[in-house]
Amino acid sequence: MTITLQLSDKTLADIARNVAKYPPEQKQSAVMAALIAAQTEVGWVSSDVINIVADILDMPAIAVDEVATFYNMYNTKPIGQFKLVICTNLPCQLTHGETAATYLKETLGIGFNETTPCGTFTLKEGECMGACGDSPVMLVNDKRMCSFMSKEKIDALLNECRAEGKVS
Ligand code: FES
Repeated sequence: MTITLQLSDKTLADIARNVAKYPPEQKQSAVMAALIAAQTEVGWVSSDVINIVADILDMPAIAVDEVATFYNMYNTKPIGQFKLVICTNLPCQLTHGETAATYLKETLGIGFNETTPCGTFTLKEGECMGACGDSPVMLVNDKRMCSFMSKEKIDALLNECRAEGKVS
């Protein structure tokens, strides 16, 4: 196994901070936090990320990979600059969630788990975000929650992302 990736000191410190929350014999409990820290730096969970996290936590790489592929907050392949996750669980579907999802797909010209050719947007469907009363609900780059996403609000959000993407 050859690892070419080198995580930054900041990311390694973040992982170490999370590992320190658990007794040494249970440091594998930090696997989710470690994957998030590495993904924040790298953008996705590559095989190098899997192997580095496995090394740090003394876990088999396959066990780390199982965590990364089970939860949809981990990007198991490279994604666009803006990751848009729309909740498609039933409560949201019953309150215009499906309409918003269809509009996003049509507007971006991509399906779920796809990235626009320009690399700006990746669209994913997500599980309940605990804000069913605010449907349609979206999450941008795993951090920014957007509620009541009408077509107009989706248009505004996409335009904001496009503008932000151009300056960064
Ligand atoms: S079902 Fe969509 S936020 Fe709960």
